[in-house]
Amino acid sequence: MYYSDEIIEEVRSKNDIVDVISGYVKLKKQGSSYFGLCPFHSEKSPSFSVSRDKQMYYCFGCGAGGNVFTFIMEYENYSFVEALKFLAQRAGVELPQEEYSKEAKERADTRSALLEMNKLAAKYYYAQLKTEGGRQAREYLQNRQLSQETITAFGLGYSSKYSDDLFRYLKMKGYSEEMIIKAGLVNVDEKHGVYDKFWNRVMFPIMDVNNRVIGFGGRVMGDGKPKYLNSPETLIFDKSRNLYGLHRARTSRKPYFIVCEGYMDVISLHQAGFTNAVASLGTALTAGHAALIKRYVNEVYLTYDSDEAGTKAALRAAPILREAGVTTRVIRMEPYKDPDEFIKNLGAEAFEERIRKARNSFMFGLEMLEKGYDLNAPEGKTEFLREAARRLARFEEEIERDNYIEAVAKTYHVGYEELKKLVVKVAVQSGMAAPATKPRQTIRQETPKEDGHIRSQKILLTWLIDREELFDQVSRYVAPEDFTVELYRKVAELLYEQHAKGELNPAQIMNYFTEEEEHRAVAALFNTRIKELTTAGEQEKAIKETILRVKEYSIETATRNLDPTDIQGLQRLMNAKKAVQDLHKLHISIN
Ligand code: CTP
Ligand code: MN
Repeated sequence: MYYSDEIIEEVRSKNDIVDVISGYVKLKKQGSSYFGLCPFHSEKSPSFSVSRDKQMYYCFGCGAGGNVFTFIMEYENYSFVEALKFLAQRAGVELPQEEYSKEAKERADTRSALLEMNKLAAKYYYAQLKTEGGRQAREYLQNRQLSQETITAFGLGYSSKYSDDLFRYLKMKGYSEEMIIKAGLVNVDEKHGVYDKFWNRVMFPIMDVNNRVIGFGGRVMGDGKPKYLNSPETLIFDKSRNLYGLHRARTSRKPYFIVCEGYMDVISLHQAGFTNAVASLGTALTAGHAALIKRYVNEVYLTYDSDEAGTKAALRAAPILREAGVTTRVIRMEPYKDPDEFIKNLGAEAFEERIRKARNSFMFGLEMLEKGYDLNAPEGKTEFLREAARRLARFEEEIERDNYIEAVAKTYHVGYEELKKLVVKVAVQSGMAAPATKPRQTIRQETPKEDGHIRSQKILLTWLIDREELFDQVSRYVAPEDFTVELYRKVAELLYEQHAKGELNPAQIMNYFTEEEEHRAVAALFNTRIKELTTAGEQEKAIKETILRVKEYSIETATRNLDPTDIQGLQRLMNAKKAVQDLHKLHISIN
């Protein structure tokens, strides 16, 4: 469904950000902003700010930020459209209705019938577990050390020994044979006709993110085969796009998921307090799973079985996750087979310990970064260390920074003092507009390409936002097209438009972006402060240099992309180059 910019802006402007966030976070007025404890990371003193003027929020602690849509997306784990619907309802704005074709309507009806049947089946199995016939299943679950609370939370059940119980029940509820077959809850064959797919098994309902039952796994209670039987894929059950346990993990508020193999692993982990565990449903992890994960977290701890198959599966999963922008750590379960057995034998604390040990996202980030450089070649290693130094420079606390400098020096065999000097050097070079925050290490995904040019574009935008009085001087030389990074170009376009109308509206600019990551990046632009340390003269020089860099790189990029037969384009570029020459004489004046 496509919603117009107007309706999106209407919904946004009718939901005052201070009012909305006040419903979630206790805010206190302080100057022109409101401050509170950040709901996105744990902290003791408030660094989460909400501005009524800008209609934006920003956390100086973790870098979370955006407009009212971003907040609802992040807090409720909603997609943009879900957040839009939520806020439209809150403000009483009626969104245009989706219009269905006849075919689409039929599909929608079938879908809801399948959902209803699966829900009925889950209730039915759950009730069976409490009956006399369910005694063996109850004992089985008890033996596996599941508490009543866990059994209820996951809606575990039992399918009876009779092979047509559920089929008759659903027919009695008025569903046609055809529909029941479509729901994947029965088998059909010529000899036996229609009969229940699951019987005499412990039942694990599979829920989608919205807590709707979409299928089942059923486990034998002894050594029978197959150990697990699963619902087939149906109109509502796509195995490569659902994760077992996600409906609970999504609200765990942890910045990472634990991804394991089995139903019982997820349940044991949740029972032990690791409520961020999910499993791919007996299938290998797919790009669909990875994209789903990326909606909620940027980091995954893989804890697959310790056997060869599990190790292979982990090795295969890691690049798929990385491709989706999710960083990965592998937790080993040795000497046990899987998380379920590990926790039973060693307990939650030992598991926590393994997580802690696996978890050093900074060094892990460098390990990933390493792959982009040839560390055996001197230039490769120097470039790599320069980028490492850039990252090290972002640690605001000196002790922390020093500790990491030490670790990096040791790992990559360079002198501590030399590395430290390099860190100071790059910090000074890029220190013109230091981000107001320490970036969330686990979240920021830098490629080695995040180079000086891109940073110049970012800095220039920050200048424009922070010092609107410079706008006319800068816009004489730099146009939105000069920003080669798509996100920045779009922000620049909108900014220039708004400036022309004489009114900056940062929160409206955010409407154009629907991804959380984009919101973060844009919010950071609007919340970076140009340091006041330098004199006006130095600032003027800095702006001029930034303009030059942006211009030069824009021309360089255009030259690279120029069609050699485009004579006019060539002429334009030559003129532009000449204009840049003149720019060296440019004088920007502050005040
Ligand atoms: N699986 C399956 N069909 C099977 C065997 C396994 O669908 N015949 C899937 C299930 O989702 C299962 C997961 O693969 O949870 C992992 O299988 P396995 O390691 O064999 O089982 P465990 O999860 O260890 O199961 P349990 O602890 O109940 O023995
Ligand atoms: Mn197991």
